[in-house]
Amino acid sequence: MNKQEVILCEGLEDSLAHALGQCPYDKLFILTDEHTHALCLPLLKDVPALKSAGEIIIGAGDAHKNLATLASVWQALSDGGATRHSLLVNLGGGMVTDLGGFAASTFKRGIAYVNIPTTLLAMVDAAVGGKTGINFNGLKNEVGVFSPAMSVLIETEFLRSLDAHNFFSGYAEMLKHGLISTPEHWAELLSFDTGRVDYAQLKHMVGRSVQVKEGIVREDPLERGIRKALNLGHTVGHAFESLALAEGRPVLHGYAVAWGMVCELYLSFLKTGFPKDKMRQTIQFIRQNYGAFSFDCKSYDCLYELMQHDKKNTAGVINFTLLEDVGAIALNQTADKESIFETFDFYRETMGV
Ligand code: GLY
Repeated sequence: MNKQEVILCEGLEDSLAHALGQCPYDKLFILTDEHTHALCLPLLKDVPALKSAGEIIIGAGDAHKNLATLASVWQALSDGGATRHSLLVNLGGGMVTDLGGFAASTFKRGIAYVNIPTTLLAMVDAAVGGKTGINFNGLKNEVGVFSPAMSVLIETEFLRSLDAHNFFSGYAEMLKHGLISTPEHWAELLSFDTGRVDYAQLKHMVGRSVQVKEGIVREDPLERGIRKALNLGHTVGHAFESLALAEGRPVLHGYAVAWGMVCELYLSFLKTGFPKDKMRQTIQFIRQNYGAFSFDCKSYDCLYELMQHDKKNTAGVINFTLLEDVGAIALNQTADKESIFETFDFYRETMGV
């Protein structure tokens, strides 16, 4: 997998003009959803190259991350005369960068693309690292390819207009990067005043967070080993996300990951000796900022079953990434049903549900 350039922008228009200048192309296309088309694209109006770009607009939200939308992007590229030397710019949240990245990576066996993430989740996670894809057959990100963007341009000014729920959703992935990197970064994230956001400090922390992810992806782009560290909180988190969706009370991905981290830190405490005081501090931050996902013991079997179907498992054995300490990662851990149910008991008691 080629290396992708990730730029923390000082001025998005200049960074984009620079990125486009580095990649010879014949035709330029820009993909947005209906929201980023209205709210974000106008901020790029002075980039000369975009004036003649083909605009492709798709519906917003995960419900549109499907084969029909993907086909509509291929169609627009084909109708617009895109060749193998054309370039696609994806401007949006994770849904746009995942789907746009997949469309680009498969059109004429692959054209170059640039990601401009507009949400915190996309900046620190989805748009970085080369995972692209769509939902299929009722399963999230079921079809896709590893294929890095040529450049990822991170403009944290977009975060000033992000709603609180989407802010916290992205912040959960930052917290995960803190837990798997260093005590300093973890402590900085826990002490950040989320009630009165200092955007300069947030920009600095986003830069640090992206470095954590980039470092891991560079070492293991195809998730054979250390990239699994990025799955911390996701084994239980995905089960919460699926249960919530099935019960008609969907939650944002990062919230499910935050609640999943509560469970997986407890499992880390039980199985790999994660320090109790650091577990308590992290859980307190999550409880204060994310509230709690509620479920009772009647859902335990269903959650367990969902975890058994996670695509990260091998031969039906549930795979966890756990921690021995902040920054000390224990990959490929397993837990029996009894420990997992004990973890659900702990979660409900600690989170007060
Ligand atoms: N979102 C986790 C990864 O990119 O591997």
